[in-house]
Amino acid sequence: MDYKTRTKVRSIVLDEKIPIDTSVTVLGLVRTVRIGKDVAFVEVNDGSCLENIQTVVGAPSEFPVLQQILTGAAVRVNGRLILSQGKGQKYEVAVTSLELAGAADADYPLQKKRHSFEFLREIAHLRPRTNTFGAVARIRSSIAYAIHQYFQERGFIHIHSPVISTSDAEGAGDLFHVSTLDFKNVPLKEGEIDWDSDFFGAEAFLAVSGQLEAELMAAALGDVYTFAPTFRAENSNTSRHASEFWMIEPEMAWAEQDDNMDLAEDFLKFLFRYALEECSEDMVFFGKWIDKEVLQTLEGIVAAQFERVSYTEAVKILQAAKQKFEYPVEWGLELQTEHERYLTEKVFSKPVIVYNYPEQIKAFYMRLNDDGKTVRAMDVLVPRVGEIIGGSQREERHDVLLQRMKSKGLTNLEVYDWYLDIRKWGTMPHSGFGLGFDRVLMYITGMANIRDVQAFPRVPRWAKF
Ligand code: 4AD
Ligand code: MG
Repeated sequence: MDYKTRTKVRSIVLDEKIPIDTSVTVLGLVRTVRIGKDVAFVEVNDGSCLENIQTVVGAPSEFPVLQQILTGAAVRVNGRLILSQGKGQKYEVAVTSLELAGAADADYPLQKKRHSFEFLREIAHLRPRTNTFGAVARIRSSIAYAIHQYFQERGFIHIHSPVISTSDAEGAGDLFHVSTLDFKNVPLKEGEIDWDSDFFGAEAFLAVSGQLEAELMAAALGDVYTFAPTFRAENSNTSRHASEFWMIEPEMAWAEQDDNMDLAEDFLKFLFRYALEECSEDMVFFGKWIDKEVLQTLEGIVAAQFERVSYTEAVKILQAAKQKFEYPVEWGLELQTEHERYLTEKVFSKPVIVYNYPEQIKAFYMRLNDDGKTVRAMDVLVPRVGEIIGGSQREERHDVLLQRMKSKGLTNLEVYDWYLDIRKWGTMPHSGFGLGFDRVLMYITGMANIRDVQAFPRVPRWAKF
């Protein structure tokens, strides 16, 4: 009907592509209604941008439908685009016809006041209608586009890593099963679950990462990247962990540790610059309502050089710190979020890349350094969020890799035979990393909880909507 001919609010107020006096059709949801004797104002938002369009009804008594139009209603407005006589907006629509497509009653939960993010999570079907979650959704979409642009322009090939996998890519065990077995009558063989009788003839999981498959593809194609949902069954109820999240994983044949760090830094800066330049309306909103410093922070990072410190140096810095930490700092232990944040927020006040971690705390696939004690791992830490990227140069030597897998206690090595095999034929140095998409969005928007950069978060005990 008018789907194809309507004018999106964005093209009026942001792109300013529509000449004054043009006849326009606006389709959207009502944000506010004010009815006076001589004039009525209906503000409409159609999701294409943050700003509403003010529509003005010159003779309210001739539009009885106004009485039925409450906040939240869906309306179809025809009118003429004019320069606004009022303050607060540049354009408005002088209404010629006004139709109620779908009424919203007075119980509509999003009345004109600020709601807590916790409350909004409980009404995920309505929360994209708020300014904040509209802005989050648009930024998410734009940054996804920027990610593809970044890699495509640099000759990386986008590959689709599988969502169902029979191997644990991180060797960490935080896996969700994928199974069609009858839970009430699980088949057993010698006292163990008989996975052979399951759908895939093997124990299968939702992927925690697409890295292992990306490594195979990189060996053949050179530079590749995945951008896919990943799943982790860690029972961590923090503001930075989700059970389902998206990860971007570039993998580069012939690249070593320094190349990996260079790419990670360049890539992050590209995304921050993109947000500042291409999403300015929504970014200004985040700077005003969510985190007053977010714009400045991003601008600062784009201009700065990331700090690079070895794990060993990082531990020394932390041990010398005056601050009391909850978790111990000792060479060989994991860096906890409090340590990561101290380094990036207090010591360096900018992103930090920590590299060469102890072998025993990192995954089996990372390349062992000549010291025999550390691996070529690198994590990028940013203020407020902590770890945003984890990556490494990969162990490309067949025997060393096999040895490390065994020493990490991976008993089911036959599950990884294909992964080991690429080290037998034409092996080469290669590197890659994973950027948590939702974490980078937290950083860009200033949103404090990962659940609030996802439209439909999945976290322990919550998968509704
Ligand atoms: O450090 P991680 O576990 O690394 C990997 O999965 C490698 N396979 C990546 C690679 O080298 N190709 O995860 C990478 C990033 C983290 O730095 C973090 O940003 C994000 O993924 N991440 C999570 N984001 C949200 N919720 C979780 N539970 C996450 N776990 C990791
Ligand atoms: Mg990590």
